[in-house]
Amino acid sequence: MRTQPDPELFREVFGRFATGVAVITSAGPDGTGGMTANALCSLSLDPLLALVCFENRARTLPLVRESGRFAVSLLAADQEGLAGVFASKLPEAEKLAAVEHRFSNGMPVIEGSIAWAVCELRELIAGGDHTIAIGEVIDLGLGEGAPLLWYAGRYHSLPRANRTAPAAER
Ligand SMILES: Cc1cc2nc3c(=O)[nH]c(=O)nc-3n(C[C@H](O)[C@H](O)[C@H](O)COP(=O)(O)O)c2cc1C
Repeated sequence: MRTQPDPELFREVFGRFATGVAVITSAGPDGTGGMTANALCSLSLDPLLALVCFENRARTLPLVRESGRFAVSLLAADQEGLAGVFASKLPEAEKLAAVEHRFSNGMPVIEGSIAWAVCELRELIAGGDHTIAIGEVIDLGLGEGAPLLWYAGRYHSLPRANRTAPAAER
């Protein structure tokens, strides 16, 4: 019989996949909220789709389900404190009250983020103790600054010399 691999090793293995750090926000009839996330990626160019994985217990998930929309704000290197707020279990409404944000298509976008997108929920797919949310991008834009990074269970930032985003090659 195959033995189950060690979940701690699983965490360490996938913790070596260095990522940026995002805040996923939503607003609807049940209020506003958001969570820090790195299980996030672009999915499709035609149509423009992105996906986010929500822990089933995340309080942001029912907000997204209700409103049918969510915003993705990619955090800047100087927004580590804010990542901590959205990774916490502070009352949902208090999280957004603590940070500067604006609304785009009814969704809260974090001020000072390096890039953002607003998505309309297309599908929710069960995935173990998480739920995969697929959203169609309906609006997006760029901000300024260097990214906040997550690697091996800690926040990092790029060395100073590499902090300016190069123009994308097309
Ligand atoms: C760097 C980092 C990345 C995270 N990525 C995710 C993620 O992709 N999905 C998720 O459900 N939770 C993720 N979390 C945990 C949530 O931010 C945390 O459970 C939060 O309290 C959820 O907030 P909520 O209950 O208000 O939705 C992450 C936490 C950190 C610090």
